[in-house]
Amino acid sequence: MKVGIFDSGIGGLSVLHHALQVMPEMDFIYYADEAHVPYGEKTREQIKGYIDDIIEFMLGRQVDAIVIACNTATSVATKEYRDKFPVPIIGMEPAVKQAVESYGDLPGRILAAATPVTIAGDKLQNLLEKVDQEHDVDLIALPKLVRFAETGDFETALIREYLLDALKDYPIDEYKALVLGCTHFNYFKEYYKEIFPENTRFVDGNAGTIRQLLRMLPKKPQSGDSSGNVEYFFSGKPVTLKEREKIQRYLEQLDKMKDI
Ligand code: DGL
Repeated sequence: MKVGIFDSGIGGLSVLHHALQVMPEMDFIYYADEAHVPYGEKTREQIKGYIDDIIEFMLGRQVDAIVIACNTATSVATKEYRDKFPVPIIGMEPAVKQAVESYGDLPGRILAAATPVTIAGDKLQNLLEKVDQEHDVDLIALPKLVRFAETGDFETALIREYLLDALKDYPIDEYKALVLGCTHFNYFKEYYKEIFPENTRFVDGNAGTIRQLLRMLPKKPQSGDSSGNVEYFFSGKPVTLKEREKIQRYLEQLDKMKDI
């Protein structure tokens, strides 16, 4: 069996990284739309066009299910749209529900960070109306984190500066949970740890997305169905050796972030 996972760029590797731990024998195609990243600064129409092309590419490679490992693309690709394809398409949305359910009873607020497109989209607003009855959730768009993640430089002081500036009007000390509502944000947990109170929890949608994938697969994966192979594509082209090495560095950074 083969699963396609895609994102605007390397953020969705965090979803693949989790999937590889849960189902190491599955075959995967990972597609990063490096020609069009960042999606979070594009129009909804542009993003829809990219998604159509990627899903067509994946279907041409006989995948059994597709994961949209991108909150921004999911915010544009409605459920009705996803239902028109012949394989299950699993989307991702900022894990606000999980944060409210897990930590709602504790004192303090929740901060959900995402891209500008996700923050402005109806999907997130509808979700908040449903789950944030107490108005405990604040929203922040952090588009530059996507750009930092794409450069692959996780050490620069500019990241800390950017975060502190973006957060200057927010009650940082009150946050009990930070929702990482963009898959690119998973690379920077060390910085959040420095900036937010010691007991702030980081909540992402990766585990929930892979659980949903397992539920939606057309049949239960059996050993012998696949061989644990992962193929990587950048905007439809197989990655070069250099790009593959870069991906490896991202996966190593994710290993470091895993238990934070
Ligand atoms: N990684 C994507 C997300 O989860 C979006 C990043 C971007 O291209 O702006 O929202």
